[in-house]
Amino acid sequence: MSSVTLPDFTLSPAQVPLYRPRVLDDAEREVLKARIAAKLEALGAVLIAHYYVDGDVQDLAEATGGFVSDSLEMARYGHRHTAQTLVVAGVRFMGETAKILSPEKTVYMPTLEAECSLDIGCPPAAFAEFAAAHEDRTVVVYANTSAAVKALSDWVVTSSCALEIVSHLRDSGEKILWAPDQHLGKYIQQQTGADMLLWSGACVVHDEFKAQALRDMLKVYPDAAVLVHPESPAAVIAMADAVGSTSAIIKAAAQLPQETFIVATDRGIFHKLRQLNPGKRFIEAPTAGQGAQCRSCAHCPWMAMNELQSLDRLLSDTDYRASCEIQVERSVGERARVPLDRMLQFQQSH
Ligand code: 13P
Ligand code: SF4
Repeated sequence: MSSVTLPDFTLSPAQVPLYRPRVLDDAEREVLKARIAAKLEALGAVLIAHYYVDGDVQDLAEATGGFVSDSLEMARYGHRHTAQTLVVAGVRFMGETAKILSPEKTVYMPTLEAECSLDIGCPPAAFAEFAAAHEDRTVVVYANTSAAVKALSDWVVTSSCALEIVSHLRDSGEKILWAPDQHLGKYIQQQTGADMLLWSGACVVHDEFKAQALRDMLKVYPDAAVLVHPESPAAVIAMADAVGSTSAIIKAAAQLPQETFIVATDRGIFHKLRQLNPGKRFIEAPTAGQGAQCRSCAHCPWMAMNELQSLDRLLSDTDYRASCEIQVERSVGERARVPLDRMLQFQQSH
């Protein structure tokens, strides 16, 4: 077995776009929302949104018979829905997952420029070389990867089911090759004790949360509970009252007795947190402080591209729409579907 020295696959600041959506006034938002709702209906399309996208887009998804959720439930919902046209508001791996699970459906996204740093930081050729050098390991990849990387894997997981699936593999005596998120990988390794070899990627949003600044914030809000997505660094996870996927964070906010929450994940989630818990207070966990600076500053620049204007353009401009259709090469999709189906079947039976 040859060994491969893994370079650092975290993104440099220059690789992270500084995307800031234009703020719309109330009248513009209402016009766009009405037009988008009518066009979705005319197209027979269902809108499926992630918790991190613009709050208006989340509300539109729910108001038009679509769905807002974490990445696992988005995949399941798109697959089960009878609509033949899906509009996925999120990042590209979410649109690709929908297409892989339902190749017969047409899947659009408001823009195909909505990428994910974990996906960018796991190039298929380098990953194939890494996997080939460790053939004795079961390959488990996070859903935040390209179709080509999924096609090289044995299992796909999301943060909603990674702990259960890796525990199951550990119980079967399997050694794991994990990609791409190193923080989530370390967290799962620490929780399960599984033998895991980790890829070196990170999420540009969660990687910026700072433990020392969080300790300082807790001095100001000593009664607050800390909610953390496990893509965050280990020192931040160690301070959490609850750790989990976006849906687990939403559940914990409702169940925990505290009135104030410091939340270490993308700030898009605050829309749903505040809707569901009107009496509670939610504060962004610090991404800067003590000389540190943030680039994404608790908001994923690619998720931010899913704004009303891009959704309106997608539904109004047929040339633009053609450029926003998700395409997954058939043989890659068929191979990538195997580990995705395995994940969904595991979830269903556990
Ligand atoms: P969830 O699977 O928890 O929704 O997370 C997706 C994601 O991209 C987190 O950064
Ligand atoms: Fe990817 Fe991070 Fe954005 Fe989630 S928040 S989509 S992991 S870059």
